[in-house]
Amino acid sequence: MHAVGIVAAAGSGLRLGAELPKALVALDGRPLVCWAVDALRAGGVAEVVVAVPAPQRAAFTAVLPDDVHVVVGGDTRTASVRAALAAAREHADAVLVHDAARPLTPPDVVARVLAALAAGARAVVPVLPVVDTTVVVDADGVVEADVPRPSLRRVQTPQGFDRATLVEAYARSHGTAAEFTDDASVVRAAGVPVQTVAGDERATKITVAHDLALAELQVRS
Ligand code: C5P
Repeated sequence: MHAVGIVAAAGSGLRLGAELPKALVALDGRPLVCWAVDALRAGGVAEVVVAVPAPQRAAFTAVLPDDVHVVVGGDTRTASVRAALAAAREHADAVLVHDAARPLTPPDVVARVLAALAAGARAVVPVLPVVDTTVVVDADGVVEADVPRPSLRRVQTPQGFDRATLVEAYARSHGTAAEFTDDASVVRAAGVPVQTVAGDERATKITVAHDLALAELQVRS
């Protein structure tokens, strides 16, 4: 199986409060995007396409390895992945889409996603159980309902897909009003079942400054 990796790195990272796009923020002295590319490679994905914000294209090219293909992303994560998918070589039969914001994803997670694809899954996501009590609130923040926890999962990346399945699902979603926060939702909207494999707490997403501080501790431990 030949897998191509896509790293979505075109977000602004406003919630992190940095002046740089989040993917260029350093973790232990290296930009998050470099960690994410390394995670994919260490897990068995040789070829990688990275979607970056247009104004910082040169800054990303300067820090990424020469053999990484850099493309300009879009206004939404979905638009960024769509741009990278168009640039991904057609000889690949699988695509793994990863967030630049998940720098410490262990190679094992990547390997589990690849193994599920090799075993015949058309779409697969790494997941973790939900450990907190989870509720639905109304517009005033008042609890409306409890949500039964055993069947809930938190979804991580990299998410793996049969290439033709992902390309077709993205083509179908183009021009629709639906907003997707990940690629499995795009594929599920096209009616494709999405399988799960075990995720890892270390693959958690860096969103706010506290997450980055925890990642620094993790690297040093
Ligand atoms: O904003 P959030 O943390 O959910 O973004 C998840 C990933 O999607 C990040 O790695 C971010 O760089 C990427 N992204 C993107 N293009 C956008 C918005 C987000 O590639 N327009």
